Parts: sequence; structure tokens; C-alpha cells
Amino acid sequence: MGASCIAPFKGSIAATVRPDKLTINQAVATVHPLASQSAMRVLKAGGNAVDAAISAALVLGVVDGHNSGIGGGCLVLIRQANGEILAIDGRETASRHATQNMYLRNGEPVPDLSQSGPSACATPGQIAAMHQMSLKAGRLPWKSLFADSIRIAEEGHAASRSVGRSIAAETTELSKYRASREIYFRSDTQPIREGDILVQRDLSNTLRQIADQGPEWFYQGQFAKACSEYIQSIGGILDIEDFEHYNALLREPLKSSYRGHQIIGFPPPSSGGMHIAQMLTMLERFPIADWITNAPEKYYHVLIEVMKRAFADRAHWLGDSDFVDIPKSLLDSDYLAERMSDFNLIEASKSIQHGIPPGQPIGQRTDQSTGQNTGDSVDKRLQPEDPADKKHTTHLTTADLEGNWVAMTCTINTSWGSKVTVPGTGVMLNNQMDDFAIAPGTPNAFGLVGAQANAVGPGKRPLSSMSPTIVLDAMGEPILTVGAAGGPKIINATLQVILRVLDGKQDIASAIAAPRIHQQWRPEKTWFENFAGTDASSAIPASLIEVLESYGHRFESSTGLAISQGIQRQRDRLSATHDPRTQGLSVAE
Ligand code: DON
Repeated sequence: MGASCIAPFKGSIAATVRPDKLTINQAVATVHPLASQSAMRVLKAGGNAVDAAISAALVLGVVDGHNSGIGGGCLVLIRQANGEILAIDGRETASRHATQNMYLRNGEPVPDLSQSGPSACATPGQIAAMHQMSLKAGRLPWKSLFADSIRIAEEGHAASRSVGRSIAAETTELSKYRASREIYFRSDTQPIREGDILVQRDLSNTLRQIADQGPEWFYQGQFAKACSEYIQSIGGILDIEDFEHYNALLREPLKSSYRGHQIIGFPPPSSGGMHIAQMLTMLERFPIADWITNAPEKYYHVLIEVMKRAFADRAHWLGDSDFVDIPKSLLDSDYLAERMSDFNLIEASKSIQHGIPPGQPIGQRTDQSTGQNTGDSVDKRLQPEDPADKKHTTHLTTADLEGNWVAMTCTINTSWGSKVTVPGTGVMLNNQMDDFAIAPGTPNAFGLVGAQANAVGPGKRPLSSMSPTIVLDAMGEPILTVGAAGGPKIINATLQVILRVLDGKQDIASAIAAPRIHQQWRPEKTWFENFAGTDASSAIPASLIEVLESYGHRFESSTGLAISQGIQRQRDRLSATHDPRTQGLSVAE
């Protein structure tokens, strides 16, 4: 089966552009050529940007399965042609049997349990979210969107470099689970390598069942049964009712403004929308346009300072808004001005803690995220792996001639998620439970700490950094969409692309290619991109880092901070960009 299997559309798609169209072309960007080609095929077959995004996401789950798939979740922003914005929350939920202390043994947190194996899995949300996308804003029949992913899984495809590398990196953990071994190993001892043909017949069959029978097959039928029985047989707690109770949710998109533009972000359980809005508001009073070009030391300095403050707030205040009250006043402009009142143009601030937004009781401020008082030094337990090593998750984006735009971030969390494949289904399950704060001050796989707001709870969604973002101009028309993969680096990468486009007046390709920094409050250091060996000219120069060190910042170099995809509209033309840090494909035609 191929593109021709996409059911012909019988509606009215204009062959030529009508004068009332916003753009004269359509655009797609993903991290894998097969996914981008699938999206373009769907657009050409009469589908809209929503159909194209669903098809691409399904293909990514087959060809880029260490990053995302139907065993995981997603957050989706859709700007519909009529101007309406949809925020569809397909974040995984903790089992109804989950408890706050489920990852403690003898009172001590055991991060291995939330990071790998059956206890790490939360109820997947991607299928439910894609079904909502299709129902609310898609055009083509649900079934037709599965054609490419079914075919590629069945026929096989050459494993990409990142799939080969990520299997090699996770061989030990993957080999613990029979079905994972059967798929990702050529023989008992030889894992699949780059270029090997990866055939996934079970996954193909699973996709066909969901295409034919709808999401019920996944949530109320055979998949839910097979998955929960298997997970329980190897020590996990997900059960069939967790699947039956799962719902993708329609959220209120988070709207803020920046220099005359409207910024549409994803609300909690994402922290991304909230903190991008916070940081943009903190930055608005600084001459960022001038600094990006003429004073990069000032630009990076102020970025580091707003990142510290936003991530300190994240660690304290953010969690699933259906379970905890997240103060709206975190976005209050006076509060954010106050957060930056101690900003010094040539000195790094010390001992940043979360703020107290208006309306919150002012007591003795305790840094709950580390269990330490504010004056204490950094918690000695905080020795996470370098976040630069973590590159999973995927962001894809599509826009069509009608004016529908999609920003969709999908994830099974870290590479190959829990490493657990459900036998007979080909579905790799997420390890999204690790995005909870398993104990106050205990860093997760990304070194993030959290407080009670993001504690584990039954049915609760773990806090995410995924930041699908759409920017509208003063007329309310879309001009930019961007998002990223990379755990907490997502938030800062998305911010930096927005600043380079809106303030720096760079095109989307330059903005995404430009070197980035990352600071997440804990640990107390900043990563900067150093492409030495591949493209030294695009690295942040050592001389600049020295100036910033003289202000008191501490640095560590990284060969890549986040993977970002975006689409930009300039007048009536769209351009799409995939991140040059990976082997993707972006098309605008
Ligand atoms: O939702 C989150 O924030 C994480 N589960 C995303 C994981 C991710 O981006 C992995 N990439 N490095």
C-alpha cells in the first residue's frame, strides 16, 4: 500500500489559490523524510494540515520509535482556518493505582523504577488525541490516515542513524523484554544498526486494527487487555480500567503577547506555554533586537537570568492543573517585573528561588523543590546526567492552503521510553511517570526537580516541557509556529527561535540553526552549543563565554541543545525548517 491508498477526497479543495487565501503554498517539517513525505502526500490527496500531521505522527512512531509512538502521548495546538485555536492534551495519565510514594523504597527514591520497566509506564494518550484532532478539525477519513504507517511497518524501512544509535545505547535495557528483543535485535546478541531493515509486523497489525476499528480497539478492546495483562505480569500497575478511563482533553490555549504579537502556548500540564510567556514578558523591556546583533553578551546574559527565574517557578508551582491550583498571576506583568528587579547587567544573580505571585500567601519561603531553605546551597543529590545527552521526543508541524496550522509534539519520554514492548502488538510503552517529581528534590532523567504540585497522583498527568507554539500577528493571522524535542531544553529552544524571528528578524531556517544556550535553574550551570568538529563557525565563541563567565555564570559545552521544527509565513509564502542538528525533511510547496 502506498500514498494511493489514501482515500480520495470528495470535497472541494481549490486547485488554484483563491485571492482570499492567506498563503500560496503549504508546508511540513518533521525529523524523518518518510514522515514529511507522508504529510505532503496527504495534503496533495486533499487532506488538510490536521490530517497531514496525524499521518506524519503515525509514520514517526514507526520510523522514529525511540522518540515517539502510539505507546506515548502528545500535546497539539491547532490554529484552524476560521481562526479558532484548539489545544488538545494527549498527555499520558498515571494509573488509578499510582501513589505519591510508589517510587520510594525504605523511604528513599529509586529513580530506576520511574525511568525504565513496567512501573515507569503511564496510560498512553496519543491515539485518543489524534482521534480528537481528526474529529474536531480533520477532513479525510480516520482510516485513510494510517495507510503510510501500516505499509512502512509491514514492509520495513532502513533504520536511521538515530534509531541505530539509540538502540545501541539502550541494548541492555531493551534486551530485558522479549518483544523488544524480537523487534530491535537481528539475533540474540546483535542489535539492529543504522541501515538495517527494520520490519514491524505486529505494529503494522496494531495500526490496522486501530484504523479499522477506531480508538476503542486501543482503549477498550484488545490492546488495553493485552497491555494491562502483560504489564501486571511483569510487576506494573496499569490496568484495563486505566485505559477505559483515558480521555484526551481540550484545554484552553494559553495566550500572551510580545511586542504586538499574540503568543499561543500550551497550558498545564505543559510548563512550556507558561514559562515561554513568563520569559517573553520579562524580556520585553530589554532591547533584544539590538542585543542579538550588537551585544550578544548582553543577550545571552539576560536570557540566562530569565531562564533561571522561570525554571525556579516551574519547579515550585507547576503540575497538572486538574489536580493543583496553578496561580494565573505567574503571568502578571508586575510580578514578572519584580522577578527581574535585581537584574544586574554585568553580574549573574545568585540564589534565585521561586517567586510568590500575587494572591499567594507570603510565609517563610521554603524551597520545596529541593527540601532546602532558600539560603542553602544546591542540594548535593542534584547530579544529573548532562541534559545534552538526552535527545528524544519529536516535534512536527504542518500548514495548509486553507490557513490550518498544526504544532504537535509527541513523546514516549526518554529513548525507547520504558523499553517495554507489549508482546504481539509492537507497541513500545512510554516512561512518562519519570516526568513527575518522584520525591521533592530528586532530579528526573533531565535533572529537573519538582515539588508537591508535580507529585505522583492517581490519574494525574505528569508535568511536561513540551511547547508547541503558534505566533499570530497584530491581525490575528499566523506568522510562525515552532516547538522542539529535548526535555526541558524544549522550552528554552522554542523561546530562542521566537526571539530570533521576532526581534532578530531572522528567517526561520537561520533562527533554528543559530546556536543556543540552556539553563534550567538546577543544576546551577548553563549549557552552550559548541559544534566543534561539525560546524565550528556556528558555535557560541569561546571569547563570548569568557565574558559571560566574568559575570559569574558557569558553563558547560554541548554538541546540541534540542531539536526544533518550525514554519514561518512571510507575506503569502510559507517556509518550513527542520533542525539541521538531525536528519529531517522540511517541504514548502
Ligand atoms: O514531556 C516532557 O517534558 C518530556 N517527557 C519530554 C521528553 C523529551 O523531550 C526527551 N528529549 N530529550
